[in-house]
Amino acid sequence: MGEDGPGRRTEVGGQLSSATQGKRRLIYGRRQGRPLKAQARDALETVLPRLALDLDALGDLKALFPGRQDFALEIGFGGGEHLIAQAKAHPETGFIGAEPFINGVAKLADAARETPNLRLHHGDARDVLERLPDASLGSAFLLFPDPWPKLRHHKRRFVNQENLAALARVLAPGGRLRIASDIPDYVRWTLIEIARFNRTEGRGFVWTARCKADWTQRPADWPSTRYEAKALEAGRVLAYLEFERADRVDIREVFRTAHELGSSHGQRAHLHAARMASTAATADGRAFWKAVEASLTPR
Ligand SMILES: C[S@@+](CC[C@H](N)C(=O)[O-])C[C@H]1O[C@@H](n2cnc3c(N)ncnc32)[C@H](O)[C@@H]1O
Repeated sequence: MGEDGPGRRTEVGGQLSSATQGKRRLIYGRRQGRPLKAQARDALETVLPRLALDLDALGDLKALFPGRQDFALEIGFGGGEHLIAQAKAHPETGFIGAEPFINGVAKLADAARETPNLRLHHGDARDVLERLPDASLGSAFLLFPDPWPKLRHHKRRFVNQENLAALARVLAPGGRLRIASDIPDYVRWTLIEIARFNRTEGRGFVWTARCKADWTQRPADWPSTRYEAKALEAGRVLAYLEFERADRVDIREVFRTAHELGSSHGQRAHLHAARMASTAATADGRAFWKAVEASLTPR
């Protein structure tokens, strides 16, 4: 991995995402890896045209996926292992995947030759998010997003206020958002960003975990990916976070759970670290953490 890279990948610098609705954004990370083998090239030429998502079709998901009422999005599907398994397990749901890494797109296209309920966007998931109608998704998946470990690169992390706002808009109330990470700092970051979003908006995402096993064990209906297998092999601790999209959120709920997450690991430094990260990353970090601490104080 490059020292400045997303964490476990080689950085090639920011590249312009496709321009949609007048916005042009940078995508960071690799767009291409090893030269594609003949089968992958064939999948791109013969299968991808059938699966490729027309961004303009996102306004009417029922027309895009005839006969289906439920829709899901996977952001950054990598090699597509999770997405294809979900699409096969739930033929009644229309699945959309977005991934800028062409080798991953080719791999999934090859595996998805017979998968009618799947559409792929070779590009930035934010281009999909901004075209989806309000409350149109039942589920969204963001599995092992690039961690961008350096402080000066934290702004590249996919979990941020802008993307959470987009996810909150497109997920139907009661819909679920699943986020996995093998990077403890990204897990903290996610909880903090979600707490900030909920606090600002008074709505957002409720973490559904009720006990440690709920976030340390992958649920049976959450297919594994190659990236996850490698992280486990390397001995990293994985977190599987599931949030429910809610119109009203009690912010103390998220903070208490975050606090318990820290103490259940015997990491008294957890809150402190989260506090430092928040203070560094946000202009109103101090005020925010005062509110967090106040909400954790027993009444
Ligand atoms: C660490 S990999 C994880 C891949 C996959 N989710 C898995 O679990 O195997 C992160 C992926 O997110 C993709 N990615 C990064 N920024 C993205 C964006 N703006 N939209 C869609 N995908 C993105 C990267 O290309 C990469 O494949």
